[in-house]
Order: sequence, then structure tokens, then C-alpha cells
Amino acid sequence: MTKEKTAENAAQDKTPQAGREPYAEGKPYADAQPRRKAKIMETALRDAHQSLFATRMRTSDMIPILEKMDEVGYHSLEMWGGATFDSCMRFLDEDPWERLRTVRRHIKKAKLQMLLRGQNLVGYRHYADDVVREFVKRAVGNGIDIVRVFDALNDLRNMEIAADQVKKEGAHLQMCISYTLSPVHTLDAFSELARRMAQMGADSIAVKDMAGLLNPVDCKSLVMAVKEKTGLPIQLHSHYTSGLASMTYYAGLEAGADIVDTAISPLSMGTSQPPTESLVAALAGGELDTGIRLENLVPVAEYFKNVRERYSHLIADIGGVDINILRYQIPGGMYSNLVNQLREQKSLDKLEDVMNEIPVVRKAMGYPPLVTPTSQIVGTQATLNVLTGQRWKVIPKEVKQYFLGYYGTAPAPLDPEVQKLAIGDEAPITCRPGEKIAPEMEDARKASATWGLQPEDALTWIMFPQVAKDFLPKKYARSVKRDIGLGEFVDAAAYAV
Ligand code: CO
Repeated sequence: MTKEKTAENAAQDKTPQAGREPYAEGKPYADAQPRRKAKIMETALRDAHQSLFATRMRTSDMIPILEKMDEVGYHSLEMWGGATFDSCMRFLDEDPWERLRTVRRHIKKAKLQMLLRGQNLVGYRHYADDVVREFVKRAVGNGIDIVRVFDALNDLRNMEIAADQVKKEGAHLQMCISYTLSPVHTLDAFSELARRMAQMGADSIAVKDMAGLLNPVDCKSLVMAVKEKTGLPIQLHSHYTSGLASMTYYAGLEAGADIVDTAISPLSMGTSQPPTESLVAALAGGELDTGIRLENLVPVAEYFKNVRERYSHLIADIGGVDINILRYQIPGGMYSNLVNQLREQKSLDKLEDVMNEIPVVRKAMGYPPLVTPTSQIVGTQATLNVLTGQRWKVIPKEVKQYFLGYYGTAPAPLDPEVQKLAIGDEAPITCRPGEKIAPEMEDARKASATWGLQPEDALTWIMFPQVAKDFLPKKYARSVKRDIGLGEFVDAAAYAV
């Protein structure tokens, strides 16, 4: 009995909290010196509005609150990357580079963080290595401190060039595990992935749970395993859709995670992150106290309450927790997209069949995590398999590319029969997909030379040629008009490009 007790104590001693000094007797709990402070990344300026209202927040709705946000004591503000780049130009008539510079001018203390899809950057295909390097260089040069690099398949080769350039620019390299559930995504597989990320020079590891599937029990084991393998700071990213995220963060922090991604309350919950204020309050006075004063969050919350009102027409209310996420194990965005697509095709009665087809498609494709772009690829194939009444009868180009290896190596072996159906006699590539793409920067510089005024314009053009061509000349014409008082002549010239 005594022996057993000792063994149990020894096991407990391995927890990260073990070995702390007990709070001094008689001393008020809140006065005790915290040994380990939990840190907060605020997502209001990127993921929160991307998740809640289709990435539509304007820079002008951010500027008035930035200085107050800088006083809060956040570890970082996520404000760039993901869908913001495209959305800025396509829907808001804003230059994403200008947004970055503007926010940087107002934020002096907090670090600015961005999300980068590895070789995909912030676009929708893989780009050449020279584009990846130039993009990272300009992102850091314009003010990004922390770059979170991920790949939909967790294929490290797709993260390699971006990671190397982040290090070269002297920024913080956060390498990111795309979390998913499958027979091959074991604790060993994830912690081994983290170990290799550390070898690649990662300064910290993020666990990106895009669907909100990570539960507190698994999070605890995952954090402890990654910590043990890497010793690096760990940042947790989840979405509230399934209702698990706050519990998961708490368990993860207790197990040794260092930073969590939260959103100020008016922009929190639903498909967004857990509320910042609740996390701060939950940890107050304990060992993991964030050091953030709730009072400092009040003006930020008040401000974003009004902002939310202005975008309320774009918010699709999921009505609390969506348990379909837990039932089908897919991200909320993917679920609502599929519902919309099926409704448009007057086949909503097939929803259950499509949901049941997703695991079949994923298995054949080697269990890709479901995040852009794999969520679209898997969702489309599952829908086709159901609506055509025959599996793999119609295979879209993207699925073929996937089976040819152009998205990277799948986590598990591909189904050889399905692969044969998809690619016929073509030979799949086995090298790093980026190697197959010839340098693109020089052509882009030439193509954008007639209207581009800043070096970043060539990058914008490569990623979104049509949008950039429409947007940038107009933008410059506007500013020239403003600066030197030229009128219609400049406008006409711009439209002629
Ligand atoms: Co997210």
C-alpha cells in the first residue's frame, strides 16, 4: 500500500506543476508568486472575424482600438494571413500590406502574429520557392514578429522553405501541427512530428485544432508528449464550435502549454475562439495567472461589441454548440459549406449519406487532416460519390492532383485501387512539390511593372492576379488623385491597364 502510494506520487511528480513551492502559510492565495504565466494570443483581428463574419472586418474598424489593445498585456495579436489577404482586396478594396503597416504603427508592445499555409502562403496553390522566400521576407519586413507555419497534410517538406526563411529574417518561427482524428494520427505520430519541427528550428509549436475536436483528455496527453519531445513553448489553437475549447485550453495549460488563442467576448464562441475574459478570469490568482487585468479588457470588449453589430448581417448564428462537429469530426466551415451546396442542388436529403461518405474518402486518401485545401477536396469528392450514385465515378482535377502527390505526402498510404482510378498510368511525384515549380518572381515583377509601385505588388499579383490587376491600379490612382489633385485623367489611365 505504502509502496503503491509512493509510485503514484512519483508519477505525479512528472507533471509540469510538480515541484512548485507551496503557497506560504497564511498568505492570501492571490499574493503567491506565479511560477508560470499563461499567455494569451488575441484573435479578434484575424481568426475571430474570419470565423464569424467571413473575414470582412475593415482596417478602419481596427485602428481606433489598437492602442488600448496594446496596453492589455497580450502576448501577441493575430492580425494577418489566413484569408485576410484575399478578403482585403476582393471584398474590402484594401491593400493587405497597408493593413499590416498600419497596425504595426499602432502596436508597440504586443507581438504581431500571422498564419501562413506553408508553400501555399496565403493563396490557393503551391508557389515557387523564390515566391515563398520573398513573401516571408516582406511579411517580416513590414512588421510581423511571429509566423505560424502549417501544412494541411503536416508534410514538413511543404513547410521547409517558409520555415528556413522565417529563421533567416530573424522572426519567431512557430511550426504548427494540424490536429485531426484518424487511426494514424496517434500521440506518437504527433509528438514525432513536433520533434522534427524542433529539429527544423521551430521556436515554438502550435497545435491547430481547426475543427474543435481536441478534447481536454487528449489535449493533456498531447501537450505533455510534445513538451517532453521538444521542450519548446506550446500554443493551443481551437474553435468553440463543439463547446470543448475552454475546457481543452484549461487542461492543456495545466499540462504545460504556454499560450492559448482566445477572442475578446463579442467576437468569441460559436465558430470562433473561446472568450478571452473568461480564460483570464478562470486563471486569475492561480499559478497560471495571465497577469492581464480584466478592467483592461472592458474597453476592448465594449468597442468590439459595436463592431460586431456593424457586421451582424454576415454572422451565421450556429445557435450555441454544434454537436454535428463531434458526430462527423469535420470543421464547422466544411459542414456548413456542404449543407449549402447540397441545398443548392436540391439534395439536402443526402446530407447524412455525404457525411457517412467522408470517412470513406478520407481513408482512400490516406487520412488527410481537414483544413484548407483538403477540406474542400474531400468534401467535393464525398458529395460526388453520393450524388452520382457510384464511388469515384467522377474525379475532379484537384483529387487527381492529390493522388499524383502535388499536395504532398498523405499521412497514411493511399488506396492503390482508387489512386489508379484517379491517375491512370501517370506516375505520381515523390519529391517535394515545391521543387516542381519554376521560379516565378522575375516574371511577376515584369508583369506588374506597369502599375506596381511597391515591391510587395509583385507578390500580390502572383497570388491573386485578377484581383490585383483590378484593385492595385485603382488604389494608386486614388492616392495620386488625392496627393496631386489630378482628376479623371488618372482614373482613365488606371482602368486602361
Ligand atoms: Co482557426
